[in-house]
Amino acid sequence: MSKNIVVAVCGGIAVYKTVDLVSRLKKKGHNVYVMMTKSACEFVTPLTFQTMSQNEVVTDMFAPVSNWEVEHISLATKADVMLVCPATANIIGKIASGIADDFVTTTIMATKAPKVICPAMNNNMYDNVVVQRNLSKLKNDGCYIVEPGEGFLACGTVGKGRLTELENIEDAIEEALCTDKDLLGKRVLVTAGPTREAIDPVRYITNHSSGKMGYEIAKRARIRGAEVTLVSGQVSLRPFSGINIIPVTSAQDMYNAVINEYDHSDIVIKAAAVADFTPKDKSEHKIKKSDSMSLELTKNPDILMNLGEKKAHQVLVGFCMETKELMENARKKLAKKNLDFIVANNLNTKGAGFGTDTNVVTIIDKLGNEQSLDIMSKGDVADIVLDKALEFIRK
Ligand code: PMT
Repeated sequence: MSKNIVVAVCGGIAVYKTVDLVSRLKKKGHNVYVMMTKSACEFVTPLTFQTMSQNEVVTDMFAPVSNWEVEHISLATKADVMLVCPATANIIGKIASGIADDFVTTTIMATKAPKVICPAMNNNMYDNVVVQRNLSKLKNDGCYIVEPGEGFLACGTVGKGRLTELENIEDAIEEALCTDKDLLGKRVLVTAGPTREAIDPVRYITNHSSGKMGYEIAKRARIRGAEVTLVSGQVSLRPFSGINIIPVTSAQDMYNAVINEYDHSDIVIKAAAVADFTPKDKSEHKIKKSDSMSLELTKNPDILMNLGEKKAHQVLVGFCMETKELMENARKKLAKKNLDFIVANNLNTKGAGFGTDTNVVTIIDKLGNEQSLDIMSKGDVADIVLDKALEFIRK
């Protein structure tokens, strides 16, 4: 959904990255309004931001306004999120101390919108006790602080201080835009992706799970305020910022990781596609070519079944993926694995299952309720699954 994002650009070499960020936010459909400090204008001209944001850029408190929409109180009121990027030591100090002496700082002072602050500066400046104290203050005041990255800095030194990757800033904006933190204080454990069962050092048995369903659940849970642990098989997805990620390979690895996390989890959602079988003997060396070969398989632990047996306070959610008799199998798994509810998806339904950005699911709960949902994005499915888990927590 389109939101109003007001970007305060300050004087640091990282402003060139903010130009790209503004472009990305526009491509996502947001309305972006840029204001610049005097020092920022030394690095990039307002014209650049005006072109990228397609909005007038404000740089001067007392310049005659051509448009009341960009007057500082209008911008402060309009903002759904106030982004400060790059945030210099100077602006951090000013915001933390309540100083409002130019267009940027008065607008920040006047807004009630959540603030996302992206520090970028020399590593010694960043380490300075005053800067750190100011950042802690801002964090305590409810600002989202997007930590800088480490590496080679424009001033020639190496350390922590460079503007973080833009994806992390986009994640923080998404988090800030969600004002209903209904999962705050809840610990959510999610599994995602496929498992890999080694045959020899070269080959393995796996499945087509991309991890998208589980990663969307983890992301939505994080945005809604939960502390999230994601136990993930090998996938090529970037986890959302702030998620505790535990990478695993085999079903046994996933079992070990999940059991470790289980006791202190409130909601457990098992979206991973776990191999039911694994090669009985894993060859130490590459198996040589021959005319034929057979592979003896042995059963993997059923992780969800184990969780069901150990269940105490947790809300336990399984997924069920079938190619036929979906509902019958899902109902059986719901009961057998002692789940609160199960999310059933059929691989043969268009837009459902492996690899897609959408899913088509039916949710069946232990009270006998069944809810069939139309095709929707995996993000929307994730929200509905989390809503349902919250319902069970509150029961
Ligand atoms: O990753 P994507 O590409 O986005 O695809 C999403 C998905 C199709 C993988 C996902 O929506 C899904 O359906 N996941 C469950 C797939 C599956 O393994 O279903 P199942 O019916 O075989 O297993 C039932 C449940 O038991 C699942 O929650 C599974 O995680 C769990 N299980 C299964 C076997 C096992 N040994 N241990 C388990 O914990």
